[in-house]
Amino acid sequence: MAVQEIDQARAEEFGGRLLGTVSGAMLALAVSVGHRTGLYDALAELDPATSDEIAERTGLQERYIREWLAGQLAGGIVEYDAEAGTWWLPRENALSLTRAAGAHNLGILASAVSRFGEVEDDVVRAFREGGGVSWQRLERIQEWQPELTSAVFDVEAVLGLVPGLVELLREGIDVLDVGCGLGHASLRIADAYPASRVLGVDQAAKSIAAAGAEAERLGLGDVRFEQRDAAELEPGSADLVLAFDVVHDLARPYETLAAIRTALRPGGLFVMAEHALSSRPEQNVGHPLAAALYTVSLFHCMTASLSEHGEGIGLAWGEERIRPALAEAGFAEVEVQGLEGDPLNSYYIGR
Ligand SMILES: C[S@@+](CC[C@H](N)C(=O)[O-])C[C@H]1O[C@@H](n2cnc3c(N)ncnc32)[C@H](O)[C@@H]1O
Repeated sequence: MAVQEIDQARAEEFGGRLLGTVSGAMLALAVSVGHRTGLYDALAELDPATSDEIAERTGLQERYIREWLAGQLAGGIVEYDAEAGTWWLPRENALSLTRAAGAHNLGILASAVSRFGEVEDDVVRAFREGGGVSWQRLERIQEWQPELTSAVFDVEAVLGLVPGLVELLREGIDVLDVGCGLGHASLRIADAYPASRVLGVDQAAKSIAAAGAEAERLGLGDVRFEQRDAAELEPGSADLVLAFDVVHDLARPYETLAAIRTALRPGGLFVMAEHALSSRPEQNVGHPLAAALYTVSLFHCMTASLSEHGEGIGLAWGEERIRPALAEAGFAEVEVQGLEGDPLNSYYIGR
């Protein structure tokens, strides 16, 4: 191999960038703590305050708050008046960190970092020995999913992508939510369209039980949740099938797509949300979340599928592979749409 000159400036720039990545990952853990304890929400409502005042307001331990604030200052998140000993969260920063920010609250994403980190040993083992991380081991990520899902999936906006669909739901149709998780989409639809009948299916017993309990708590009528494999659906049972952030996770994605096609009655509609990435890695360079999403795939989607000796297609299978898969499953017509304010997903509408 020819000896190549080292470009020193490039090496230094890369080292600095990587250091920033590691520092950012550690800071994300502290951001998660701020999100989970409600510290950002409290700071957003307070005038500049001392750590004692913040402790009084939140009921949290002052010593922990003070250490946390110092790190937040170093990380450029909060500001500090050293003379007065007061701290505050600039309004602009609150727009990315408080519950009031809704889908823009990046504290939700930060709170995933430690949950993914919990299975790192299992992922390293799978690199060496093959196999994957089971859905049971991924429970803490599953518990976090609804917080993300309710921020990311605006069910009304997704349904609005298909002209006439809302009217059909109002009149009353059969809706099947495949891989429903904790039932976010099912519950929203059951609540908004009481004339429609909703069935959510998922293989995770805990999620099904939690979704059912939530339906009961909300007093919703025509919504049921069943523990069932996504590839085993009742033929001709649905007018609308949803699969939000599910198909790439499955051990048997292609069989499931065929089962969904068969579950649809004539004229029925399939709405599938998948990540707005390409199956070609070079096309994802520059996407602000691609590196994070590939980690999600390694630590969750791909490995969960491989743990069941599945396809392990990974979350970035992209339109290039999804369109042929839908055609193969029998969808003659497929439209791909995006939603403003939702850079994460593409919506595939299959008929
Ligand atoms: C990323 S979560 C998405 C959940 C939900 N659709 C949402 O948007 O919140 C993927 C879901 O697929 C479910 N799942 C995985 N394999 C499955 C299978 N073979 N049959 C049914 N559900 C499955 C998981 O239990 C999990 O709830």
